[in-house]
Amino acid sequence: MTALLSFVLLALCATAAVPGALAGLLSSGCVESSIAVNTGSLILSATCANGSGGTTSSTIPLDSCIGNNNGQLAPGVDFSQTCVNITSDGLVLIADCTTVAGTLHETSIDLDVVIQDDDGVLNCVQ
Ligand SMILES: *[C@@H]1O[C@H](CO)[C@@H](O)[C@H](O)[C@H]1NC(C)=O
Ligand SMILES: *[C@@H]1O[C@H](CO)[C@@H](O)[C@H](O)[C@H]1NC(C)=O
Repeated sequence: MTALLSFVLLALCATAAVPGALAGLLSSGCVESSIAVNTGSLILSATCANGSGGTTSSTIPLDSCIGNNNGQLAPGVDFSQTCVNITSDGLVLIADCTTVAGTLHETSIDLDVVIQDDDGVLNCVQ
């Protein structure tokens, strides 16, 4: 039982440490306190390990990674053109987005799922 648990924990740690693998912001070496969502300028900024022993600061426009899929924030682009009341709570982006029927729907998305850190450079998760 204890051995099994240790194995599972080791496996999890090994997975998180694989460099170059698809990695979320929080699991890939970004400084947690540096991750900031600016819902006014619609930009995410973060300082993350750069793979050469240092850190690099980077920004990415939220509109380049997030779209509005019938009232739901989803991977895509230009969500802000059809969403209002854009706010954030930690790494969760929250907005009221227009549905196909034309109504507003409150929706949210975890930025850690749609934006990744590649050795200090922020990119959309493909
Ligand atoms: C990584 O950070 C170190 C220390 O700040 C810096 O000297 C180096 O140029 C950076 N490497 C890249 C690829 O940005
Ligand atoms: C924004 O949210 C507030 C509070 O939920 C709501 O009263 C308001 O109508 C919303 N604005 C728009 C443009 O939907």
